[in-house]
Amino acid sequence: MNHPVTQELANELTAGWSAVGVSRPHESAELHVLGQATYTDDIPELQGTLHAALGLSAKAHARIATLDLAPVRAMPGVVAVLTADDIPGTNDCGPIIHDDPILAQGEVLYVGQPMFIVIADTHTNARRAARKANVTYEELPAILTPQQAKAANSYVLPPMRLERGDAEAAFARAPHVARGELFVGGQEQFYLEGQIAYAIPKEGRAMLVQCSTQHPSEMQHVVAHALGLNSHHVTVECRRMGGGFGGKESQSALWAAAAAIAANYLKRPVKLRADRDDDMMVTGKRHCFWYEYEVGYDDTGRILAARVDMTLRAGFSADLSGPVATRAVCHFDNCYYLSDVDIRAGCGKTNTQSNTAFRGFGGPQGAIAIEYVIDEIARNLGKDALDVRRQNFYGIGERDETPYGQAVVDNVLPELTAQLEESSEYRARRAAIDRFNAASPVLKKGLAFTPVKFGIAFNVTHLNQAGALVHVYVDGSVLVNHGGTEMGQGVNTKVMQVVAHELGLDLRHVRIAATDTSKVANTSATAASTGADLNGKAAQDAARQIRDRLAAFAVTLHGGDVADVHFFGDAVHVNGVSVPFAELVQKAYLKRVQLWSDGFYATPGLSWDPKTMRGHPFQYYAYGAAVSEVVVDTLTGEWKLLRADALYDAGRSLNPAIDIGQVEGAFIQGMGWLTTEQLWWNDAGKLMTHAPSTYKIPAISDCPEDFRVRLFEKPNVADSIHRSKAVGEPPLLLPFSVFFAIRDAISSVGGHRVNPPLNAPATCEEILRAIDAVAAQSQSLQETNFQKSGSDPEFGKLSH
Ligand code: MTE
Ligand code: HPA
Ligand code: MOS
Repeated sequence: MNHPVTQELANELTAGWSAVGVSRPHESAELHVLGQATYTDDIPELQGTLHAALGLSAKAHARIATLDLAPVRAMPGVVAVLTADDIPGTNDCGPIIHDDPILAQGEVLYVGQPMFIVIADTHTNARRAARKANVTYEELPAILTPQQAKAANSYVLPPMRLERGDAEAAFARAPHVARGELFVGGQEQFYLEGQIAYAIPKEGRAMLVQCSTQHPSEMQHVVAHALGLNSHHVTVECRRMGGGFGGKESQSALWAAAAAIAANYLKRPVKLRADRDDDMMVTGKRHCFWYEYEVGYDDTGRILAARVDMTLRAGFSADLSGPVATRAVCHFDNCYYLSDVDIRAGCGKTNTQSNTAFRGFGGPQGAIAIEYVIDEIARNLGKDALDVRRQNFYGIGERDETPYGQAVVDNVLPELTAQLEESSEYRARRAAIDRFNAASPVLKKGLAFTPVKFGIAFNVTHLNQAGALVHVYVDGSVLVNHGGTEMGQGVNTKVMQVVAHELGLDLRHVRIAATDTSKVANTSATAASTGADLNGKAAQDAARQIRDRLAAFAVTLHGGDVADVHFFGDAVHVNGVSVPFAELVQKAYLKRVQLWSDGFYATPGLSWDPKTMRGHPFQYYAYGAAVSEVVVDTLTGEWKLLRADALYDAGRSLNPAIDIGQVEGAFIQGMGWLTTEQLWWNDAGKLMTHAPSTYKIPAISDCPEDFRVRLFEKPNVADSIHRSKAVGEPPLLLPFSVFFAIRDAISSVGGHRVNPPLNAPATCEEILRAIDAVAAQSQSLQETNFQKSGSDPEFGKLSH
């Protein structure tokens, strides 16, 4: 049924009543604070529950010569020990390509790879026993870094390439060329709740798996395949996660499958909860990237030609590396029009954990490379980096086509960056910092302004669909199932708001049930920041069908026109009469009106051709920008973020409070990625930073004292849910400004004449290394200048 009431008229009729576009607390906030929110490990255990642990490989690449499990079986409390031979179905948990064994068979491909499952009476007994196996290995050569992978032509997928224009010819014309290399490290998801699955056998070989996962349907498939069952035998449920950040998009599968294999074997409930160290040793992380780049530009800083070759550390299997690399390729442009480009990406196969989704999904890694380049162009030309960025922005109505062929039709960057430039007092602070640095020999300040454009939609087109189920009970209360999963980001709160808005109800009348594959089928992962976009639309579709039936029924009781029936303030307003919602529902029930409905949504207008790497992969873009100011101690490499201003384009925000929380969280998480969070593997391929004692995520004391996060509120031009924009991932790119502010501070050591060779993470050691390099280079520069006794005409061409 159509809804002829325009938004304006509806606002008038509802006297401004709205359940969306308003700040509301997270629906579980009270439970979180009281410690009453149920996470998977909090579910009361059934009688007879056993506990599992995984036995892990000690070698990066080896043939398993002997695997003696007798000492494991002899340990106290051990009930069973299972290997790949005990898997009744397929030994695979790979989400796209089936190259990902649940348990290693014959060969191990990284340190930490699971080889067997121990099931014992307690969690501790299982973990103790898991270490007792006698394993002998025949070691094989291991590839550990992306550089080694490229040199060995070792890839999990064929390398990809996106070309537009004629880079060769454009380089030939370019007055200046800069080239170099950059390394950007990976990142551990560090969800507070680790990986966990609790498998409960049901009658007739069926299996219920309670699992901390962003992707219940994928867990259902993997468990069904591993057990040799059909999907309808397997139910996967997730009430909430204590964070996922991409790490539970595909990689919850290993844990779900292992728990289900054990539960199926013993016909008893089995829980598998990863200890933090095991979680970090076993699971994949954000991909580290190694870039080789070359850019041609003119005197104004405009980029004329660009070439980049990105090599990702994919790890031992493909996992989601293909779509991650694709997103990196499609975000190398970030906010800039690149007429003639050649972008390549190779997913290096290495003997390390299989890297996976992490907030941004390759987007941050693609975009940081061009930002690094622009930062250099600005320094080479002696210009302010913001001016060079602006010089390269996508145009409006011209210079607006991305390298992959999608036109940028919703560019709010000129307005957004102008607002932030003013509110952050960027120019005045730049001048103040120059004065500070001139008078401060050891402490140096730095400032950077970085913009973001991020494509919203799964870059695998068919994943852009969602379903929902809305029940209105006879008492007028509403229960919603949707395909999204709650990981703290607030998707349930937003979907509640959408349903409440359609039915004109206060939020307390609406509840969201746990995500459950037996309620909504064939769901996509809650990922790509699309949780509220997709599930909000699906739930709206369901709620609208119920509302339309109730409106038609109300007219049969009170007359008038269905188009003039309005739902707001917990009542239905029809032909001059206001009926309490619950009262109308009861009457409708007695007249046998269907009070529940399913809903469905598929994002329109998307296309993607992976062969040509062209199409319209995104529904719209989300934008943002940030300004960060840091102070660096040039003797120790220590630094502090003094102030950060962020402006994020949330469209017409569904819930500004939640969105601001997402921007703050993503900012600090992205800052951790680029500064303190260092993944370090030793020469034998063992990850040595596998616990919070050695892996440093940001703490509250690392947050800037002066943190100004605002939303740029302007309706989405795309027909998204209530014209809002996604918020989950894009703000992770905002702390590029922290990284480049550090680089700016370092560069002041050499009078801003030398490009600091700064890799990420910019740890204190890395900062010191870059300071030394700058000092050495500017020393030799001074000597050359002195000899020439004049200004250096080559200065503009400097690059490291
Ligand atoms: N916020 C919290 N609190 N916890 C999380 O795990 N994951 C992020 C982001 N925000 C995450 C989060 C990631 S990686 C994505 S893709 C989105 O939330 C997913 O949720 P959404 O699509 O509903 O925004
Ligand atoms: N984001 C997250 N997960 C995905 C994507 C994406 O863009 N594409 C396929 N899986
Ligand atoms: Mo988010 S990386 O798409 O789960």
